[in-house]
Amino acid sequence: MARKKIIAGNWKMNMTPSQAVALVNELKPLVATEEADVVFCVPAIDIIPAMEAAKGSNIEIGAENMYFEEKGAFTGEISPEMLTDIGVKYVIIGHSERREYFAETDETVNKKVLKAFEHGITPIICCGESLTQREQGVTMDFIRQQIKIAFLGVTAEQAKTAVIAYEPIWAIGTGKTATTEQAQEVCAGIRACIAEIYDAETAEAIRIQYGGSVNPATAPDLFVQADIDGGLVGGASLKADFGKIVNWK
Ligand code: 13P
Repeated sequence: MARKKIIAGNWKMNMTPSQAVALVNELKPLVATEEADVVFCVPAIDIIPAMEAAKGSNIEIGAENMYFEEKGAFTGEISPEMLTDIGVKYVIIGHSERREYFAETDETVNKKVLKAFEHGITPIICCGESLTQREQGVTMDFIRQQIKIAFLGVTAEQAKTAVIAYEPIWAIGTGKTATTEQAQEVCAGIRACIAEIYDAETAEAIRIQYGGSVNPATAPDLFVQADIDGGLVGGASLKADFGKIVNWK
C-alpha cells in the first residue's frame, strides 16, 4: 500500500499565541487536502490556541519537544501526559537545534521516543549530518548510528507508525536545499537501516520526511522521490507558502 505523505511545519521559537491563531486561520483554507497528513508543530504555549483555531480543519497540532519522565521536579519541561490530555498526537524529537543548543543526545532521543510511544504519541524523529560529516563521506555512518540508537527498544509495530525526518544540518535555514538525489539517497539508506533493524514490512510502512529549506519550488521534485514521504518545513511553514508545499502536486 502506498504510504500517505505527511507534511509538517516546525514553527520553532516563532509566533505568540495570538499570532498562532492568526496564522492557523490564514493557512486553514490553503492547506486543505485529503492526500497528505498535515501537522503544525508549534511552541508549547501555542498548542491550545492553535488547536482551537484548527478545529474542523484537517490540521493536526503537534509539539516541538517533550520530556521523557512522567512528572516531577523538571522545571520548564512538558510531560507526555500534558500533551495527550489535550489531544496532541505528534511530537518532534531530537531536532538538530535541540541537540546543538540543549545538549540532547542519541540516548535522550531514544528515551523520548520510547516515552512518546508509551503514551500513543507519534514521534517525528530527526536525524541529519553536518557539513563536515558530509564532506568527510561519513553521512550514512552517522545517520545509521542516530537511527539505531533512536529505535533501541522500539517494537516493529511501533516503528511502523513512526515518522523519521532527515534534515541535513547544512540545509536548515540556509536556503540551501539538498539536491533531490542527495535527499533520496539518504532517505533510501534510512529505510534500508530500518529493514536491517526490523524487516522489509516495517521499512515499507515507516514514513520518512526530508527537511531543510523546503520551499514551493523544491517540494515537488523532493516529494516524488521513492523514499521521501513528505517534508518537515521550518521557515516556509510560517507563511502562505506552506499551502503551496502541502498542495505540491
Ligand atoms: P527550514 O525549512 O527553515 O530550513 O527548517 C527546516 C527545519 O529545521 C525543520 O525542522
